[in-house]
Amino acid sequence: SSSPAVLTCKAAVAWGPGEPLVIEEVQVSPPQPMEIRIKVVCTSLCRSDVSAWETQAIFPRIFGHEASGIVESVGPGVTEFSEGDHVLTLFTGECKSCRQCISGKSNMCQVLGLERRGVMHSDQKTRFSIKDKPVYHYCAVSSFSQYTVVHSGCAVKVSLAVPLEKICLLSCGVAAGLGAAWNVADISEGSTVVIYGLGTVGLSVAQGAKVRGASQIIGVDINPEKGEIAKTFGITHFVNPKECNESIQQVVNRITDGGADYAFECIGDTGMITTALQSCCQGWGLTVTLGVPKVNPELKAHYGVFLSGRTLKGSLFGGWRPKSDLPSLVDMYTKKEIQIDEYITHNISFEDINQAFSLMKEGKCLRCVIHL
Ligand code: APR
Ligand code: ZN
Repeated sequence: SSSPAVLTCKAAVAWGPGEPLVIEEVQVSPPQPMEIRIKVVCTSLCRSDVSAWETQAIFPRIFGHEASGIVESVGPGVTEFSEGDHVLTLFTGECKSCRQCISGKSNMCQVLGLERRGVMHSDQKTRFSIKDKPVYHYCAVSSFSQYTVVHSGCAVKVSLAVPLEKICLLSCGVAAGLGAAWNVADISEGSTVVIYGLGTVGLSVAQGAKVRGASQIIGVDINPEKGEIAKTFGITHFVNPKECNESIQQVVNRITDGGADYAFECIGDTGMITTALQSCCQGWGLTVTLGVPKVNPELKAHYGVFLSGRTLKGSLFGGWRPKSDLPSLVDMYTKKEIQIDEYITHNISFEDINQAFSLMKEGKCLRCVIHL
């Protein structure tokens, strides 16, 4: 077949920090060597898209990184994908040949890891333009566009039978939470868990903890509306810091008789990491961080929390090696071993994408799925 050409499609472009996205006609270049061009079917809005849109300086830009789609064309050298394949996008890729990838114990690919400059990994250029001016990428995915180009190491093939409008959530939030519970913390049966922040990420940690048979799963959130929905994901105790007369760590220490076995920070507030450390038990208490702070990135904690044997562990994408491991999560969904549909509180058409941003800022949604 003839080689793919530049195509024009609609994309939701962010022109400046916090400014409503504008649906624009953009030019999408053909996939370059080892890249694929994807027709995006659905993308869910993640908190990280909102945080980056509010705080970062690279514009104009196409956000979106939690997505599913269909391969439209492949670039030179690509043998793994062909036109018509169904895929999930990966905001952190897997080259399978760098030191990190071959270690078998890490998902921190040195070649296709988190891209922060708004360009493609291979040539530091963009594949989007408007009237020949570059439009920048986000995490080398940019799913708020009807078509996007990604490196073939930043997508994973999925079965044609699985609904793309649901499994897009496995591209980031739900997988990150499940992985933190299973891979990073490796929660054991009967243990106690405290989760700070009950968005999709925190509630996916809860789901993972429940599957592992945790005896107590304490959820902490300042939004009182989270208490009820959190129970459906396995939360056994809901704590609203605004309604407590004592510190949260005191509440958790009392409920768990001396601190939880595992604490998870799913807000993106470094102050809460300190609180999480203080609310896990001496000896073996483990705090796992999932949140991405947009301000005050430095941590403050008394060394005494470590002297007493606690551990602080970071994670990205729940420790999943994205290409190797995501197909097994998709299988679990097919077999109804994990819940995804329950996180989808809104389905939104592409023209209304700004509504999804409003809902997330107002704390009125878990995941909004945007249909392109
Ligand atoms: N104390 C307790 N809960 C809080 C606080 C606080 N100080 N601040 C915010 N929260 C709660 C919010 O009310 C919300 O329910 O944290 C939750 C965060 O959920 P979402 O905004 O839906 O975010 P989510 O997509 O789950 O992501 C959580 O992980 O991937 C990262 O960048 C992401 O840092 C973010 C985090
Ligand atoms: Zn690698």
